[in-house]
Amino acid sequence: MKAQLVTLLAACLLPTVLSEGSTVAWCYHLPSCNDTTWPHTVAHQCNGTRQSPINIVTADVQADSSLTAFSFSGFNDSSALVQMENADGKSVKVSLDDSKMSVSGGGLQGHYKSTQFHLHWGNGSSSAGSEHTVNGKRYPMELHIVNMKSTLPNTTVALEDPTGLAVLGFFIEATSDSGKPESWKNLTSFLSSVPNKGDVVDIMDQISMDSLLEGVDRTKYYRYLGSLTTPSCDEAVVWTVFKDPIKVSQDLINLFSTTMYINTTAQSLITSNFRGAQELNGRVVTSQPSSATTPYQALSLTAALLYHILYWL
Ligand SMILES: *[C@@H]1O[C@H](CO)[C@@H](O)[C@H](O)[C@H]1NC(C)=O
Ligand SMILES: *[C@@H]1O[C@H](CO)[C@@H](O)[C@H](O)[C@H]1NC(C)=O
Ligand SMILES: *[C@@H]1O[C@H](CO)[C@@H](O)[C@H](O)[C@H]1NC(C)=O
Ligand SMILES: *[C@@H]1O[C@H](CO)[C@@H](O)[C@H](O)[C@H]1NC(C)=O
Ligand SMILES: *[C@@H]1O[C@H](CO)[C@@H](O)[C@H](O)[C@H]1NC(C)=O
Ligand SMILES: *[C@@H]1O[C@H](CO)[C@@H](O)[C@H](O)[C@H]1NC(C)=O
Ligand SMILES: *[C@@H]1O[C@H](CO)[C@@H](O)[C@H](O)[C@H]1NC(C)=O
Ligand SMILES: [Zn+2]
Repeated sequence: MKAQLVTLLAACLLPTVLSEGSTVAWCYHLPSCNDTTWPHTVAHQCNGTRQSPINIVTADVQADSSLTAFSFSGFNDSSALVQMENADGKSVKVSLDDSKMSVSGGGLQGHYKSTQFHLHWGNGSSSAGSEHTVNGKRYPMELHIVNMKSTLPNTTVALEDPTGLAVLGFFIEATSDSGKPESWKNLTSFLSSVPNKGDVVDIMDQISMDSLLEGVDRTKYYRYLGSLTTPSCDEAVVWTVFKDPIKVSQDLINLFSTTMYINTTAQSLITSNFRGAQELNGRVVTSQPSSATTPYQALSLTAALLYHILYWL
């Protein structure tokens, strides 16, 4: 049983981006510490002007041809997903072997080492829980892969750099079948080993990142500059939000809001662990130029124009 590997001690040794730098207690659901209070209580940058998440309004997205394909290293390596943790009773976090997993390309400046991924969810099928929304639509869940600029020594330094982190966000959409896909069945099978705050379980050699992202076209994404979505909300993130959702069956989605606790099983379940949408404050969201402006179509347009000019001459 994997449960035998659970160790509270290991939690202290894991790097954490989720709660980095925040000393004041924060929460999602108590009036005394929910996200409306963060800008006052845990100020640092929660009161800043390039905060995340945001609502992406597709009509306002601007084309940027520098948003090319990513290069993903080690995403096919099942030894790169190391441990799953109940991260401070706020989320589920999987630590990654950053000597094996990294990303580059995708309009990023240089290489970023992949350090962890974690999830945001709602409450089963009754309430959606993605952080980003698209034209106001909230997806059931959102996956965040956190990557750190490889030239920087540690997270503390990365959080001081306006592009120190590159977070890859993936929406999760529900399907009506059960136990699908197999990679997510594998991943969620470990949740019952980490119900309590700080619990950790070894998940080595079970799942690869590629298998969790199966079916997603990773060349289509939104890009903007933002922040961590949890205190201390550091404005250090180059955000990538992929347009295609990962498809996961509803029964597996339900496991997050029915298995994970904010402290111990005697207390509340973790539900709706997402921050509300933040002001854009003049920021622009960019994406790949739409297919309407491919070179071939531009050529056809020119031909059509020429034809009309010649016709009227
Ligand atoms: C969040 O806190 C504010 C003020 O403290 C309160 O008015 C609001 O109802 C709270 N919202 C939730 C969802 O708890
Ligand atoms: C945010 O709060 C800090 C103090 O905690 C203050 O120095 C800073 O000016 C505030 N920023 C904004 C944009 O209000
Ligand atoms: C992962 O992909 C790389 C590049 O295509 C390949 O060289 C490597 O053998 C693959 N690793 C695994 C574990 O499949
Ligand atoms: C979540 O959903 C369950 C079942 O639908 C419900 O009993 C529970 O009260 C909900 N929890 C919250 C925090 O809304
Ligand atoms: C991070 O790196 C900086 C610069 O090398 C160093 O001064 C600092 O002590 C390091 N912080 C941690 C937490 O390791
Ligand atoms: C799921 O786990 C089983 C058992 O460890 C493994 O054989 C299989 O390859 C895994 N499948 C995926 C897609 O992760
Ligand atoms: C969390 O659970 C532990 C162990 O049962 C308990 O000692 C502690 O007081 C709890 N913390 C909170 C904030 O409820
Ligand atoms: Zn997140």
